[in-house]
Amino acid sequence: MSWIRTGKCTAGIRGLIPWIFVTNVMLILYCFTGSNQVNHSESKEDTCPLSLEKSNSKGPSQAPTSNCSPKTNIMFMKTHKTASSTILNILFRFGEKHKLKFAFPDKRNDFFYPSPFQASLVKDYRPGGCYNIVCNHMRFNHPEVAKLLPPDAAYITILRDPVDLFESSFHYYRKLVPLTWTIGGDNKLAEFLKNPQAFYSPEAFNSFYLKNMLSFDFGFDNNLKADDPQVTRHIHYLSEQFHFVLIAEHFEESLILLKDLLCWSTEDILYFKLNARKSSSVSKLDPELRAKALQWNGADWKLYQHFNASFWARVEAYGRERMNRDIQELRRRNNEMRTKCIDGGGAVEAQNIQDQHFLPWQPLGEKSILGYNLRKDIEPKFRKTCEKMLTPEIQYMSDLGVSLWVTKLWGWFKDIIF
Ligand SMILES: *[C@@H]1O[C@H](CO)[C@@H](O)[C@H](O)[C@H]1NC(C)=O
Ligand SMILES: *[C@@H]1O[C@H](CO)[C@@H](O)[C@H](O)[C@H]1NC(C)=O
Repeated sequence: MSWIRTGKCTAGIRGLIPWIFVTNVMLILYCFTGSNQVNHSESKEDTCPLSLEKSNSKGPSQAPTSNCSPKTNIMFMKTHKTASSTILNILFRFGEKHKLKFAFPDKRNDFFYPSPFQASLVKDYRPGGCYNIVCNHMRFNHPEVAKLLPPDAAYITILRDPVDLFESSFHYYRKLVPLTWTIGGDNKLAEFLKNPQAFYSPEAFNSFYLKNMLSFDFGFDNNLKADDPQVTRHIHYLSEQFHFVLIAEHFEESLILLKDLLCWSTEDILYFKLNARKSSSVSKLDPELRAKALQWNGADWKLYQHFNASFWARVEAYGRERMNRDIQELRRRNNEMRTKCIDGGGAVEAQNIQDQHFLPWQPLGEKSILGYNLRKDIEPKFRKTCEKMLTPEIQYMSDLGVSLWVTKLWGWFKDIIF
């Protein structure tokens, strides 16, 4: 806040005190980090019936031109920094509309990340409890997830080019990794990549944010080399667990394929891009740095390559022509909503967001995440839909009845200190 920012004489204090606070709070909140690798051996004990009764008698209406019935049981493995917040908003709206049961975390917006997921972390969990949708950040642990969902649940996730993901993660989380605090110079990312070993240790606090983060999120050891046979086994394991892997770089194609898999309608996948970063805060990586980042995140690169290939095979099978038509339709309807909902028609910087309800969570000491203002002269019949489409993750979870005091306390703390 401004009192701590003004005056050169406070600069020294600014540099030191916040970090002591931060470390303490982080340690208190996140000291229960689990083992470095999730035990993926299966103990198949699906406790949920094949099709879960929904609390409303009428299921979702069918997609107009199909004879399948919309899927309502979904596991979305929300990876970090992959446009997953936009998918989350889609799932929240779909679940709310059809009165589906979400397995939410308790008191915070993730399942005790980075500890491996446990069914007991679900809010109000009772053994044998069944849910329609699991979608918050977690460290994937299939046997525990499977306890919560009917066996017919669709498992989906999203990947992003590991180089861009690394750049984004570095920007967003670097300050939570104490070893990086000593990186000098203006271009900290370049400094890091020049000699990663100087600022990285597999055992160091929060180090997983800076290497093969996708692998880590899926429950694997993130320090394996790309050519380690285990990496291949992990990829094979994931391709068996997940029915569909979205690719963030091809977001529209991903949504069309998702709609097809779940037998949803176009209306169900309308979206505004949430949690985007202002472009001035994105580091431009020259080819040399990109190559270094790629090598540093080699295991993730291999993972990404594999699922990129299966993604495009799927697009081929769907039909390029049909895909292009569907994308045009999606764009047209998204634009319609943009005109109806968004003041000025586009995203604005955090300080220009008037209603706190629409202000997205910001990284430590920054205001780099964009958000939206709702149109003032909005047509009443679109107001509810527009509001939901624009509501960021934390606020939406509160609206859905999740108490988030740990997350909010941390947010408050972060804003006071910086
Ligand atoms: C993983 O779990 C299985 C079954 O619970 C157990 O037999 C095995 O020893 C565990 N492996 C590790 C590495 O902990
Ligand atoms: C993803 O797959 C497509 C189609 O095979 C290919 O053209 C593209 O280069 C791949 N992208 C990456 C980053 O490997």
